[in-house]
Amino acid sequence: MKIRTVFAGLVAATFSAIAMAQAPIVIKFSHVVAVDTPKGKASEFFAKKAAELTKGKVKVEVYANSSLYKDKEEMEALQLGAVQMLAPSLAKFGPLGVKEFEAFDLPYIFDNTAELHKITQGPVGASLLAKLEPKGIKGLAFWDNGFKSFSANKPLKSPADFKGLKMRIQSSKVLESQMRSLGALPQVMAFSEVYQALQTGVVDGTENPHSNLYTQKMHEVQKHMTLTEHGYLGYAVITNKKFWDGLPGDVRGQLEQAMKEATVFANSIAKEENDGALEKIKASGKTQVYSPTAAERTAIKKALVKTHTDMESRIGKETIQAIYKETG
Ligand code: LMR
Repeated sequence: MKIRTVFAGLVAATFSAIAMAQAPIVIKFSHVVAVDTPKGKASEFFAKKAAELTKGKVKVEVYANSSLYKDKEEMEALQLGAVQMLAPSLAKFGPLGVKEFEAFDLPYIFDNTAELHKITQGPVGASLLAKLEPKGIKGLAFWDNGFKSFSANKPLKSPADFKGLKMRIQSSKVLESQMRSLGALPQVMAFSEVYQALQTGVVDGTENPHSNLYTQKMHEVQKHMTLTEHGYLGYAVITNKKFWDGLPGDVRGQLEQAMKEATVFANSIAKEENDGALEKIKASGKTQVYSPTAAERTAIKKALVKTHTDMESRIGKETIQAIYKETG
């Protein structure tokens, strides 16, 4: 072999070793909502912070709008290591066997965001995240979305209005029970399929915070929306535990800091995003937005609170009681 050839080979090997040493750690962060939502914006914020704090050692690639995986697939992909980070709704952990998360779906369990934060930012939240570890998942944070409204093609003012309606829900037994207690027929469906299902009449109605209803254009195919704020929808940011534990300690620390800052950001914009979306829904003129009277709210609440006792054995009395105690 000529000296020149050996030398060229050595140079090439050195360059590729340097390139490998400098290649960033890639975190694929998949989610199902639009970029212009609390979760969409918070994940972009996290990606930017992660690059900044790790000085480019980590590259977070955010895949919004179910562009990589849909609801069910994304959980499987995380466990298999095909993606490294997700922020599924708390209503989507039941199929994983972590039923305690469905406590967040109980109607009226939180009267306001301050009560909610006592759980998500406190010891009960931390103990809930720890329940993911035996599934190979590390829970990093809770991110807010907000309180839900109901929508359909008919006015929804009293429990009787829900009777027989096919209502799309997330994959939560608590939400199933909630819809049944109104006499509605719950239909579990991936988020990415809801718009079309509403448009074609596969389902009659749904529930979601306004940022989701608006950015998925659901309001364009729903004639009526009722501002019930009957339940909460938020997220757990999760990662593959093996991947996380295998990160260099300094990088992990920087990512933890980025997540801390992203969580503050997420929770500071969520309400504003939802309020803004509601204004845009109203301005579109495509759906009638109804604010129930005090008596109507009481009637809906009365029909829904029975879900707490009906679902106690599924969620676990201990978890429900811990939330009651913490939120006063
Ligand atoms: C839904 O499926 O309605 C929501 O969980 C979507 C989301 O991630 O906010």
